[in-house]
Amino acid sequence: MADDQVQVAEPPTDAATPAQSVTFTDNRTGQSKPLEVTEGTVRAMELRQFKTDEEDFGLMTYDPAYLNTASCRSAITYIDGDKGILQHRGYSIEDLCEHSSYLEVAYLLIHGELPTADQLAQWTHEVTMHTFVHENLKVFVQGFRYDAHPMGMLLATVGALSTFYPDSKNIDDPEERRMAAIRLIAKMPTLAGFAYRHTQGMPYVYPDNDLDYAGNFLGMLFKMTELKYEPDPRLAKALDTLFILHADHEQNCSTAAVRAVGSSQVDPYSAVAAGVAALYGPLHGGANESVLRMLARIEKIENVPDFLKGVKDGNERLMGFGHRVYKNYDPRARIIKKHVDEVLEVTGSAENPLLDIAVELEKRALDDDYFTSRKLYPNVDFYSGLIYEALQIPRAMFTVMFAIPRTSGWIAQWLEMLDDPETKIARPRQIYTGHRDRDFLAGRAEVGR
Ligand code: ACO
Repeated sequence: MADDQVQVAEPPTDAATPAQSVTFTDNRTGQSKPLEVTEGTVRAMELRQFKTDEEDFGLMTYDPAYLNTASCRSAITYIDGDKGILQHRGYSIEDLCEHSSYLEVAYLLIHGELPTADQLAQWTHEVTMHTFVHENLKVFVQGFRYDAHPMGMLLATVGALSTFYPDSKNIDDPEERRMAAIRLIAKMPTLAGFAYRHTQGMPYVYPDNDLDYAGNFLGMLFKMTELKYEPDPRLAKALDTLFILHADHEQNCSTAAVRAVGSSQVDPYSAVAAGVAALYGPLHGGANESVLRMLARIEKIENVPDFLKGVKDGNERLMGFGHRVYKNYDPRARIIKKHVDEVLEVTGSAENPLLDIAVELEKRALDDDYFTSRKLYPNVDFYSGLIYEALQIPRAMFTVMFAIPRTSGWIAQWLEMLDDPETKIARPRQIYTGHRDRDFLAGRAEVGR
């Protein structure tokens, strides 16, 4: 048998070895001990007892990018990446999209249960009553250059909210936590709307509290001279569905950032600003913008095979494909795909060459061993950009469109972290690879000084 093959032995029968355990043998010392397995994991700290001598720090795990490390216990979102399952608080994403609204899902994420009709009415009322921002924030947005990226503006303004609500740093006060949750969900679309209007050189639109969450946001983007903005209900519904699809996705890069920064016990606005910063990156929330750029660069259907060859040769990346967790079709991509045609029909852009390219890319990639063998399937971003474009939302706003709904997930995860008795300040270990104990004067002589 080769050295790297796993040998199957009989399970231990002695009473001292728990059945739910793995026996860890340190071949450096011969020390052997059972490590308890709980919920499919072993505690990394258990490894510290394995030392080569008294001076030794003890064994650590090395897991760059947390590929195989659970950093918390969470009851918010369940994903089975192999089967393509996504559930929030036990409810399937398909059911939530079909029967629920974004604000109801936000309530579910944060409170753990679906609201009663009265609770939902009260929640909706409170969110709606906190959509306005302090006028100074408007002046703050006006200070950005005309071509500032809206995501950069959002990042700065969300962080700035902490200076308007200094009491929010009392994170042990349940009322402060509650108000921060409501304010963040309520004000995010307003900040996003201001950022968008700023890039257009247009006056900022104040919230209209007669409209629902998605309709009000469309108004803050597109209201012109009309006295009352009336969103197309089909577009508002499609946007609300997109908001549900983006509300939470367990321990992704931005959520991990919110938890890590929040673990320092900073106020929630600063923690959420960290999430916005993480989401800004092209491998995370920036991917839908990159998908559109990629589709535009491919230009026409006939160029799809050449483009895919470039991907397989390692010269290109098929944006909107692949996922750290999903090794199957992303269930969110399936739901979005259903809405693309509907939205294009309403906006009159049904003949969209980019959509044709996307469909052809997907078809060919799913037929190609390079992609299937690596389990690369469309993710949520593959089609969302096409809907945003049909809604006439500029590409630079795409990641902002993601940040608005993800705010409810960030808050739910932040609240859960605060209530977790195991929470400590996040502080990973490192493997030090640099020099040690160098002679400073000898070093200078070496560089000729
Ligand atoms: N196009 C081409 N090849 C890819 C792609 C892609 N989009 N994604 C992964 N691969 C290949 C890698 O080159 C690698 O191949 P190899 O085994 O021959 O080296 C293999 O598939 C495994 O990929 P990793 O990069 O190890 O996968 P990882 O889990 O680290 O990356 C990620 C996941 C970042 C999402 C990646 O798939 C990617 O860059 N996709 C494109 C960007 C994107 O769409 N991001 C949105 C993610 S969803 C979200 O954040 C909401």
